[in-house]
Amino acid sequence: MPTHTDRPDSSDAPAATPNQPSRRRFLQTAAAAATVGAAPHLHAQTQTPVAPPAPVRQTVPPRPVTLTVNGRPYTLQLEPRVTLLDALREYAGLMGTKKGCDRGQCGACTVLADGRRINACLTLAVMHEGEQITTVEGLASNGVLSPMQRAFIEHDAFQCGYCTPGQLCSATALLNEFRNGTASTVTADVRDRPAQLSDAEIRERMSGNICRCGAYANIVAAVRAVHDGSGQTGNAAVGPLQGQPQDSAQRNA
Ligand code: FES
Ligand code: FES
Repeated sequence: MPTHTDRPDSSDAPAATPNQPSRRRFLQTAAAAATVGAAPHLHAQTQTPVAPPAPVRQTVPPRPVTLTVNGRPYTLQLEPRVTLLDALREYAGLMGTKKGCDRGQCGACTVLADGRRINACLTLAVMHEGEQITTVEGLASNGVLSPMQRAFIEHDAFQCGYCTPGQLCSATALLNEFRNGTASTVTADVRDRPAQLSDAEIRERMSGNICRCGAYANIVAAVRAVHDGSGQTGNAAVGPLQGQPQDSAQRNA
């Protein structure tokens, strides 16, 4: 009985003609060509220098950092690389400030530092020792919502609410900035105080806060209502925190 070993090139097989090389010959030629083709590559592989081991990075140990948040001091053990956002959420337990993009693009992490709005994900906690940090938890005073918080509710200025803490902090600072005469890119003449807080001004000044639910029209309406309604609204929300007496801060520690 013939076997698979003697079938293709066995002596019983018909002899190859000069123009039809045998299968064995073909395989030998192909193997030789492959070996020659691979040889430079193999040679190059053997010549690749071995990379030196990566240097071991020394971590900087945590150290105590005291942040004053909503009038209360928090002494936290933080590595220098910890952002203010992570310090607030992960170390101080203040989860009201939200993490959206974590790269300064959405505004969900907006808080106030000495009344100035900042993206907490873009700044290190250690840079804010000695400042008065205000988060959304600090906008209300003694259990009473700030006018901006009330306006957001009355004007239905949120849906899922994820962006709302940042929107509230931003809108609160916006009114103070406007009152202080800060111009924006839609102010007709940046050398003068903006004449009025138009809807275009509000939209531009709130443009750093993204709302994925698209509640923009109602947010503008809420900010406008607070601005038109009182004139002292921004101070009402931020003032008590900026002027927080030291003994009160100590009492809450
Ligand atoms: S989380 Fe900070 S800007 Fe988006
Ligand atoms: S209310 Fe949902 S993202 Fe703004």
